[in-house]
Amino acid sequence: MAKYVVRRSGVLKGDITASGSKNAVLPLMAASLLTKEKCRINDTPELRDVEVLCCILEDIGGKIHFDKEQKSLEIETPEITAEGAAPHLAGRMRASVLVLGPLLARTGKAVVALPGGCAIGARPIDLHLKGLEAMGARVKTFQRDGFDFVEACADELTGCEIYLDFPSVGATQNLIMAAALAKGTTLIRNAAEEPEIVDLANFLNKMGARVKGAGTDNVRIDGVKSLHGTEHTVIPDRIEAGTFMVAAAISGGDLTIHNTVASHLTPITAKLRECGVDVFEGEDFIRVDARGKSLKAVNIKTLPYPGFPTDMQAQFMALLAVAKGKGNVNETVFENRFMHIDELRKMGADITYADRKATIIGTQALHGARVKATDLRAGAALVLAGLVAEGTTEVSQIYYIERGYEKFVEKMQSIGADIEYVEE
Ligand code: UD1
Repeated sequence: MAKYVVRRSGVLKGDITASGSKNAVLPLMAASLLTKEKCRINDTPELRDVEVLCCILEDIGGKIHFDKEQKSLEIETPEITAEGAAPHLAGRMRASVLVLGPLLARTGKAVVALPGGCAIGARPIDLHLKGLEAMGARVKTFQRDGFDFVEACADELTGCEIYLDFPSVGATQNLIMAAALAKGTTLIRNAAEEPEIVDLANFLNKMGARVKGAGTDNVRIDGVKSLHGTEHTVIPDRIEAGTFMVAAAISGGDLTIHNTVASHLTPITAKLRECGVDVFEGEDFIRVDARGKSLKAVNIKTLPYPGFPTDMQAQFMALLAVAKGKGNVNETVFENRFMHIDELRKMGADITYADRKATIIGTQALHGARVKATDLRAGAALVLAGLVAEGTTEVSQIYYIERGYEKFVEKMQSIGADIEYVEE
């Protein structure tokens, strides 16, 4: 098993470039199933999740060419050769459910093994299924060979009005993709507003779809008969950028992060400023200067976009563990996203929690420990804590981190982090 060995590193400084967004590229890849023609996605990050989705798409009939030098991913699916995603692949990532909407829209049938991914709560897909049913799909779940599957069938999908009980990112994406080829108009109310939804809408519109209102809670999709191939550059990864921003702050460093969209990072910028750190927003870069600053505790409540992202909660908890004073963290998006707390405590963090609320009292005295990445962002948080802890921190289960951070070790080393990848 591989692990990261992290040692106290001093200030992190220099320039670093954020990769293309993991959470944006996965739906774009799924959307490529909506056409027989070739789609090219530029700035595709080289990540475990991208690899797994490539395998799922290949199983379904996709011909894939990933030029890793150029970061260009080409997907062409002239024929659909399977009904959906097999359990050994789908079970490895939550985003595998995103093939459901496009497959159903293109062929009238989709069978997908229920998705896996980071174990950060129950993560049901009821909102995806309710929306597809409202568009006329017959949906059932069943078991085969010990795995749970969902099957959706429809001779024709029909546009309709869908109200989401919660602005789910994945459900909004799945329903926009299905509606792109449905008959008539679909209105999604209380839709998710994340930048990744806007990127998907832009991609689909380049393919000939008619999606309006993406980025608001009200998305309108006028169905079209067919879609064509296109080329698109994926948006920068705001969570990776946010993680580097916290790396600068926690280490008292000075980092300029290139390939960023400042407006996507507003809650992170605001909270870091509240912590007492300087943040400068440029056209396509953001600079965090924490030199000589003492970090002050802040309160955080995770919310759907444009609120504070749940995907940055763990990293901020690492920051609060060494800030001055008491900070509260309220996790409202996922019910079970506090698994990093026990790991941070092993490093000396003073954290108490009940239900979805945690209280962190900052200490100067984190120490290295053997800890586990319990999910993707939790793993990043432990590395950040390791940068300022006395001694050596060993982070295991790093496959979670590699699901979503491109060349994490190399990038962290390039800004001065003492981190190495060790194969046991
Ligand atoms: C996406 C992101 C993930 C991020 C999350 C919230 C990808 C690949 N992943 O995940 O990194 O943390 O958005 O910003 O883009 N829910 C239901 N029923 C549903 C769907 C969701 O109850 O049918 C609940 C979930 O259990 C969770 C909440 O809604 O509590 C948010 O989930 P959702 O927005 O769907 O997140 P994902 O799309 O899975």
